[in-house]
Amino acid sequence: MERDLSVLESHTEQWLREVLAQARHVLVFTGAGVSQESGIATFRDPSEGLWARFHPQELATPEAFDRNPALVWTWYEWRRALIANAEPNAAHLAIAQMQQQLRRVTVVTQNVDDLHERAGAAQVLHLHGLLAAARCRQCSAPWQHHGLTAGVEPPQEPREPPRCEHCGGYIRPGVVWFGESLPTATWDAAAQASTDCDLVFSVGTSSLVYPAAELPHNARHNGATVVQVNPEPTALDDTAHLNLRGKAGPIMAAIADLCSA
Ligand code: OAD
Repeated sequence: MERDLSVLESHTEQWLREVLAQARHVLVFTGAGVSQESGIATFRDPSEGLWARFHPQELATPEAFDRNPALVWTWYEWRRALIANAEPNAAHLAIAQMQQQLRRVTVVTQNVDDLHERAGAAQVLHLHGLLAAARCRQCSAPWQHHGLTAGVEPPQEPREPPRCEHCGGYIRPGVVWFGESLPTATWDAAAQASTDCDLVFSVGTSSLVYPAAELPHNARHNGATVVQVNPEPTALDDTAHLNLRGKAGPIMAAIADLCSA
């Protein structure tokens, strides 16, 4: 299918064709903005971001969960319902397509949704965990969700989290909270990819949350070309070789088409 490549100016298109053709290992690093066109609110958007409606410290820390497990659990169950009802968008599909077409593409995401995988991407590194991978807060035993407990509307009443069948502890969502360490093997693999890659696409992230935000900087330090896709300026602007200002869907679709051309 022919796609409109006019989102990329012709000299930008030519430059991208060349770096893509030369790339041995591409790192695609994504944040909440890549799922925005699937209807999932980003974290820091002032008008609709989740953080605008709820104070993060009330919801996204181990202390918050211990203080009010029902509130925190219900909030994440609502987010799980939003994700389950969402579909991968053009950006997720384009990234999966790039994995098929280029020699080597490592996908690293800060997102806790599974939209990259549902678009067909393989071996996605989830730096901040996966919402669906719940486990016991006390003994860490994995816990299997059975369907959804919330709808897409924000729930009115907090509901107690389920209890662990082994130790009776509360079940917690599979995300990394503020103050917690990133999953070691996942972080090591992402850091290794940032050292090894020769081209990075940083897509839909404010580049503010460390250590994840280190990856494109580390890649550039090791000689990689850095391309950023974001409608707004970010903390990565000065490090990126190219800043493509716009939504991830049309821009990543145009870039994926350059790979197949
Ligand atoms: P943010 O909400 O901080 O940033 C989202 C970025 O996406 C912003 O820079 C937007 O301009 C951009 N954006 C919005 N719509 C877009 C679109 N359609 N296409 C492309 N970009 C778009 O989200 P993250 O950078 O992912 O961590 O936040 C990083 C971490 O902060 C999250 O993983 C989460 C949060 O605290 C944890 O929960 C541990």
